[in-house]
Amino acid sequence: MAKALKSYVCGDCGAVYSRWQGKCDDCGDWNTIAEEKAAVSGAPKGLSGKKGRSIHLTSLDEPIEEAPRILVGIDELDRALGGGLVPGSAILIGGDPGIGKSTLVLQAMAALALKGKDCVYISGEEATAQIQMRARRLGLSAAPIKLGCETNLRDILSTLDHGKPPCAVVIDSIQTLYADHVESAPGTVSQVRVCAHEIISYAKRKGTIVLLVGHVTKDGQIAGPRVLEHMVDTVLYFEGDRGHQFRILRAVKNRFGGTDEIGVFEMTGAGLEQVTNPSALFLADHNAREPGSAVFAGIEGSRPVLVEIQALVARSSAANPRRAVVGWDSGRLAMVLAVLDARAGLGLAGCDVYLNVAGGLKVSEPAADIAVAAALISSLSQIPLPEETVIFGEISLSGDIRSVSQSEARLKESAKLGFTRAMLPKGKKTNSSTIQLHTIARVADLVAHFFPDGIE
Ligand code: TYD
Ligand code: MG
Repeated sequence: MAKALKSYVCGDCGAVYSRWQGKCDDCGDWNTIAEEKAAVSGAPKGLSGKKGRSIHLTSLDEPIEEAPRILVGIDELDRALGGGLVPGSAILIGGDPGIGKSTLVLQAMAALALKGKDCVYISGEEATAQIQMRARRLGLSAAPIKLGCETNLRDILSTLDHGKPPCAVVIDSIQTLYADHVESAPGTVSQVRVCAHEIISYAKRKGTIVLLVGHVTKDGQIAGPRVLEHMVDTVLYFEGDRGHQFRILRAVKNRFGGTDEIGVFEMTGAGLEQVTNPSALFLADHNAREPGSAVFAGIEGSRPVLVEIQALVARSSAANPRRAVVGWDSGRLAMVLAVLDARAGLGLAGCDVYLNVAGGLKVSEPAADIAVAAALISSLSQIPLPEETVIFGEISLSGDIRSVSQSEARLKESAKLGFTRAMLPKGKKTNSSTIQLHTIARVADLVAHFFPDGIE
């Protein structure tokens, strides 16, 4: 008789254990392992008994029929996707609850439907009336979307198999679906895997685009979409701070385009609005006269983005001074502090340091090092940076400032936003007629700018 084997699966990364344990050895998360019944019918048989079908092997240069990409018409979304949707592809949209995933996919489907594409929206979370109400609020009621509320995978696939395959299908969310031939509860890793696999195979078979919405939760009960990342073609993360209205759609995996491309949106009363000029938005409240603030000319994906980096340095008498970072890597901050101490004798070891990237953006570029250093030194010296100045460059452990890529694009964007000066590393000759360039070779030069008489 078929025997249901018990196994213990990490809800975050999908690692399987034979016994329960508190911490997952694979991803290092705590309390994510839960019992699951694996549907195994009898002992696993080898593949030797029955012959398989031989598959067709092809060459790399065999002509292919490339389906054209479909532009959604929401530029920021198309950009994050690497230039529109690819027919037959599976896209996972992950993000915290309440960040705006359902709103985004509804707006995307409406835009496609209004272009005459056949779009299906299956919700397992909300009732039809709730989605209709949201659509009314967003002014999208007229969009010819086919709406359905269902969680049973078999029923969903039968519905989709009816008639001509649609152009795009949204499943909101993948965690609510269940396949009735799998014994575990909805949201468990095996259910999520099976359901995603079935829907992705449907997409590949019929050339339909599927958008899967997935929750990221710290709670071990629901499988995080990380187990799905391997299965889909594109993974988009919708991130942002609930306290801010800005939302950033970031591609972390894309089989059909570049990663680290971002789309910027603003959550308004009438849904998500595109932010075509993110720099202007991130710098909206920038006050150049304040010490402790530096404008970093960064690159996000293929696009330059200017952000304000704010620092606060305060003398502390505690044995372990506080270090708090929002929007940047804390390890990187520790490195910049150590270099400032060792190479420029700044003596920040006994200070509390707070660092914030304004607007809720997460900066991951090493090119921000020197902007962070400038903000720190400016806060310590209480001298603001020169007005209308942008800054970028990577700091090496020796205290040298290293050149970074795409200086031209950074300078061009800065000039566009009215900046007249730039502090940048020595390097390839960059020409800019509108921006005055100050090259910095070492962190000590930067410190000398704020402490011309030396540090007492
Ligand atoms: P939602 O798309 O339901 O989030 P998710 O699917 O990621 O859980 O969006 C939820 C939040 O967005 C909710 O807190 C309210 C806000 N919101 C607006 O501010 N304006 C709007 O027009 C809409 C539709 C939502
Ligand atoms: Mg939702």
